[in-house]
Amino acid sequence: MKSKRSEFLTKEPLSQQVYDYVHLRIERGDYAPNDRLPSVRSLAEQFGVHRLTVFKSYQQLVKDHFIYAKDRSGYYVCPHPAVKLTSQPDKTFTNAIDSGDVIHLHQKKNQEQILTAQPLHSAASQLTKEDSLPFLSLTRRTHVLSALHQQDVQYQFSKALIDPSLLPNTYMSEYVKQVFDMYPKLLGTYSTVQGDFQLRKVMAEYFNARHHMSLSPEDILVTSGATQAIDLAARMLIKPGDVVLVERPTYSTAIDIFRQAGARIVTVEMRPDGYDMEQLEHTIVESRPRLMYVNPTYHNPTGYVLPEEKRKLLIELAEQYQFIIAEDDTTYDMYFADEPPPPIYSYDTEGVVMYIRSFSKYVAPGLRIAFVLCKPWLMKEALTLKSLTDGGSPLLGQKIFEHYFTSSRMQTHMEKLRIALSLRKEKMEQMLTAADWQWISPEGGLDLWVQLPAHMNAIALLEKSLEQSVAFVPGPFCDPLPQGSEAYIRLSYCYTSEKQIEEGMERLLIAYANLL
Ligand SMILES: Cc1ncc(COP(=O)(O)O)c(C=O)c1O
Repeated sequence: MKSKRSEFLTKEPLSQQVYDYVHLRIERGDYAPNDRLPSVRSLAEQFGVHRLTVFKSYQQLVKDHFIYAKDRSGYYVCPHPAVKLTSQPDKTFTNAIDSGDVIHLHQKKNQEQILTAQPLHSAASQLTKEDSLPFLSLTRRTHVLSALHQQDVQYQFSKALIDPSLLPNTYMSEYVKQVFDMYPKLLGTYSTVQGDFQLRKVMAEYFNARHHMSLSPEDILVTSGATQAIDLAARMLIKPGDVVLVERPTYSTAIDIFRQAGARIVTVEMRPDGYDMEQLEHTIVESRPRLMYVNPTYHNPTGYVLPEEKRKLLIELAEQYQFIIAEDDTTYDMYFADEPPPPIYSYDTEGVVMYIRSFSKYVAPGLRIAFVLCKPWLMKEALTLKSLTDGGSPLLGQKIFEHYFTSSRMQTHMEKLRIALSLRKEKMEQMLTAADWQWISPEGGLDLWVQLPAHMNAIALLEKSLEQSVAFVPGPFCDPLPQGSEAYIRLSYCYTSEKQIEEGMERLLIAYANLL
């Protein structure tokens, strides 16, 4: 009989996953009859798997009469693909592709286990080498990360979420009552797809005053968090095989979203002073991206900030090489001392930026309020997709947010929050000085991106630290490439109190010492 853990680790063979992926794309019409399929080499590169794996999948697809091979020229979709009787297209896999559901791809046999509490080490146990393969990380990276977040550990340094005790929960409940008094029929109606007009008006005035923009409510879309906005960007702008340029490392959910859209991910190194612009241009010329996803202010996971002059240059590159920049500014307001440079979007005159600003994190994650700012031609597409996704974000959350955002409490809350976060960061850094680890102290944001000594493996350290009831995010989760971040970890200082940081860091260093 299989042990619980080995069941939990059950996975489809890689060749079967590649088979299902290609088959699904044929079924959905992404590849039409007689279309040439990607070469074995390029698919293997795209997914980070061995060429023989792709070859095996193609051979099986030929056998099943879904595709045919032409000598020396490659593989093509059959004019009338067979109805497959033996192994039906995997419905769960289809759902995973369509819905972005991260649970099902390789663990469908174990759903119950996954949906119930997992043993302490199960998340770390899943971090096998395969997890760093780009294709498999399509749905796995985010899933394993959320499994990690659900670990019942005492010291949670893996969550880039603000400690709920630092958020204005009591005031929020007051606003709920106020909003219902003002709009008794609020729950009896839908929001418009674009979002509540009054809220968009408030936000247009806010952005105009703060960043010298000239927005009208029509330039703003309300989304359910930045995650939904990134997903909209991917669905609007990417078709399978298109190149998306991302910073390396980057926000792990964004990697999954772009993979889900079938994108080929190309990377640019994120350095303390932003990117090497020459290198970036070279990469753009070589790869011709359709979209570049950036997180330029207190970047997740590094905390770095793209300097102002590079922001302007980036706009020039997007105009010259005709790609869209999805600028995710989720932590823009999380500065400790000086304000960051203006958003890249504020320099955009040609409409090449889709600006995403979430207030989820530091006002009320439960409201999931974020805004997309973009020019009309992008807005038109975004509205079509948003209407298909959910018909508009829930009105109640928008109204509560509007009333809180326009109150004087918002400003006071932000000031207090910045102080609390900077103290937590300092506490974590103070504890870190006891180890031979390296990091660059960020000027804002929620995380430290820490480099361990080269011989140390972040996943091995995570296994050990979970024994000490401490969780953090291993570097490979933030890396779109299969290798290179094994000796990095992301430590979030925002979710735990200073006292917990002190105790948790002591335990983490014990875990580290046990590995030496
Ligand atoms: C860079 C980045 N973008 C987006 C998000 C998600 O934001 P939201 O909660 O608004 O979906 C996060 C959350 O960690 C993030 O770090």
